[in-house]
Amino acid sequence: MRLKNKVILITGAGSGIGRATAILFSKEGAQLILNDVNKEDLKITFEALDGNKHLMHCGDISDSSIVQELFKLITSSYKRIDGVINNAGIGRYPGDGENGEIHETNDESWRAVIGVNLDGAFHVSREAVRLMLAKDIEGSIVNISSTSAFTGEGPLAYCTSKGALLGFTRALAIDLSAKNIRVNAICPGPTATRLLESIPKEWQDSLAASIPLGRLAEPNDVALTSLFLLSDDSSFYTGQTLSPSGGSYMI
Ligand SMILES: NC(=O)c1ccc[n+]([C@@H]2O[C@H](COP(=O)([O-])OP(=O)(O)OC[C@H]3O[C@@H](n4cnc5c(N)ncnc54)[C@H](O)[C@@H]3O)[C@@H](O)[C@H]2O)c1
Repeated sequence: MRLKNKVILITGAGSGIGRATAILFSKEGAQLILNDVNKEDLKITFEALDGNKHLMHCGDISDSSIVQELFKLITSSYKRIDGVINNAGIGRYPGDGENGEIHETNDESWRAVIGVNLDGAFHVSREAVRLMLAKDIEGSIVNISSTSAFTGEGPLAYCTSKGALLGFTRALAIDLSAKNIRVNAICPGPTATRLLESIPKEWQDSLAASIPLGRLAEPNDVALTSLFLLSDDSSFYTGQTLSPSGGSYMI
């Protein structure tokens, strides 16, 4: 029960890494607020949780007014927040061409990817920090980036958003260090989820073939890294980047 009585928000909890994280955290005693833009998927995750003190919120985190509503719900229900997993993300957008290269990326798809992956983490972290500061809480924020921030392998807007999340993590970690609010990033390698299935099959095959430990990451490999960063075991970690990637990229 490493998260006993901690109130934790997970964005993008309807699928993949977010769903595995929610299920693991519920077994570790957390009180969860699960967010996702997809209501049906969110309900499936919600019904798989242990314990009965959890909340669901369906909404798009790229919209700051929706994130404010989400935090009204958290404040009225729990009056505190101890941790956030900024996990919601999209790989590409229907307006993109086949590989998401610059000449085939239109304004709408660029804004959509940056809007969810980067603006979303900003909107959520800002509200979480406001609540943590108001209640004097020594919280933990985790940003799910990607090894593609280092390798550049993936659609342009996606790699850009994941690289920016690392700068965001480090700057926020310094800003909040005096308050003992910790901010860290996770860079998963290729992970067996729907997001990976959205890239061309040849990319998926070549990514899997190049992983030294010989397999794709499972969502639970990433969830276990988040568990460490949300638990008190990581109390001396801030501004760091951990990579459950089977050695596919060595930071
Ligand atoms: N799968 C991989 O290979 C891989 C590798 C590195 C990093 N990641 C990152 O892990 C995170 C989780 O991805 P996943 O692989 O589990 O993919 P996924 O598609 O299975 O899950 C992403 C979830 O985010 C939700 N979401 C999308 N836009 C949203 C929005 N605007 N507001 C709220 N929720 C929204 C989706 O509905 C979905 O449930 C993402 O940030 C992704 O970039 C994935």
